[in-house]
Amino acid sequence: MSTLAPTRPVETDAKPGAVALARCDLMGAPPYSEVASQLIRRFLTPAHQAALTALRGWMIEAGMSVRMDAAANLIGRYEGATPNAPALLIGSHIDTVRNGGRYDGALGVMLGVDCVAALNKAGRRLSFAIEVIAFGDEEGSRFPASMTCSRAIAGVVDQGVLAMRDAEGVSLADAFADFGLPGTNLSAAAYPAGKAIAFLEAHIEQGPLLEAEGLALGVVTAIAAQKRLSVRLIGTAGHAGTTPMGLRRDPGPGAAEAILAVERICTGGTHGLVGTVGRIAAEPGAFNVIPGAVVFSLDVRAETAAARDAAVAAITTEIEGIADRRGIGLQIELMQELAESPCDPALTDFLADAVSDTGLTPRRLPSGAGHDAMVMSNLCPTAMLFIRCEGGVSHNPAEAVAEADCILAAQAMLAFIHRLDARLAA
Ligand code: GLV
Ligand code: MN
Ligand code: MN
Repeated sequence: MSTLAPTRPVETDAKPGAVALARCDLMGAPPYSEVASQLIRRFLTPAHQAALTALRGWMIEAGMSVRMDAAANLIGRYEGATPNAPALLIGSHIDTVRNGGRYDGALGVMLGVDCVAALNKAGRRLSFAIEVIAFGDEEGSRFPASMTCSRAIAGVVDQGVLAMRDAEGVSLADAFADFGLPGTNLSAAAYPAGKAIAFLEAHIEQGPLLEAEGLALGVVTAIAAQKRLSVRLIGTAGHAGTTPMGLRRDPGPGAAEAILAVERICTGGTHGLVGTVGRIAAEPGAFNVIPGAVVFSLDVRAETAAARDAAVAAITTEIEGIADRRGIGLQIELMQELAESPCDPALTDFLADAVSDTGLTPRRLPSGAGHDAMVMSNLCPTAMLFIRCEGGVSHNPAEAVAEADCILAAQAMLAFIHRLDARLAA
């Protein structure tokens, strides 16, 4: 049963920020979700395609020309005063987790469109172009690794990811082909050198700090380091009724011990250490079969890669001990690794000044969640604006954000754009 918040009507003459919010709401249901009962919009699915079709129309309406790159990023371009000028990139992701909320990612894209629509309506051309980007794979909710799309734009993608397979066994290469991009060469999506001035990402906070302090907006200082691993404990499949308890090699209880070890090690950690086992599967997965293997995901994050890696090493040692003691096999595979990513200090100060322009105090805070900005920092300076969300709840259909906060976010982004224009034109 979905607990998505009620939708708001899309009124395109509403204030920048309010339109963005209403569009996120609109995209909370089919055809923008793979199912009716929840919001699921995974990379390269028909729901992703439908979202991009709608977004293309909104981008055109806002005065942009639109293209799709080789990694299925949808990019709207608002030309500057002179053609072919370098661009300020604004964007976030359009994909969701399974049973996610409407605003994680999508709001940042829609706010970018609202900002351009406001500039276009005012007949304002800048000393730079603006490109609004909808990245397709920030969550990694379909394929084992994430941020393929921003990696491609930032020129740091490994073409080998095309061999990754989703849970149904479809390769990323085949998924691109089904999406209308057969034989895609991800390197072709790399942004031209010297053409990106900066990357600005607006995103809901996904945590409780801004709400607790009564602030609508925050300015991100840095994004936490993260690692994704896949842990496989291997036993012997057998009959659940006939194999005595003492004669089993059941990886299930070993997995339970391992998960408790993750909780213990991360609870005792410092530097914002957190560890999550978000997916568990017993194979073959039946009431009456002792599993032959149990596979679980492990997501470990901390403010520094060193703190994260120390925890991963401790967890690995612990799980090795559990497997040895229980006489079961163990495979641990690293699926993804991202170092901590400080936002650009000068650009962050600049964004803080833009938040002050709206009359708000620019609260600075780190991000425990991962964002495309981490990857885009390989291409150009990055800054991130956080928007308060209700109860700090995210990756949950109960995700909610106030319209007034979205309007303030759009104002801060427009102030940032105007300040940047004044700086670059000087
Ligand atoms: C994305 O939401 C992440 O932080 O994993
Ligand atoms: Mn997310
Ligand atoms: Mn997100």
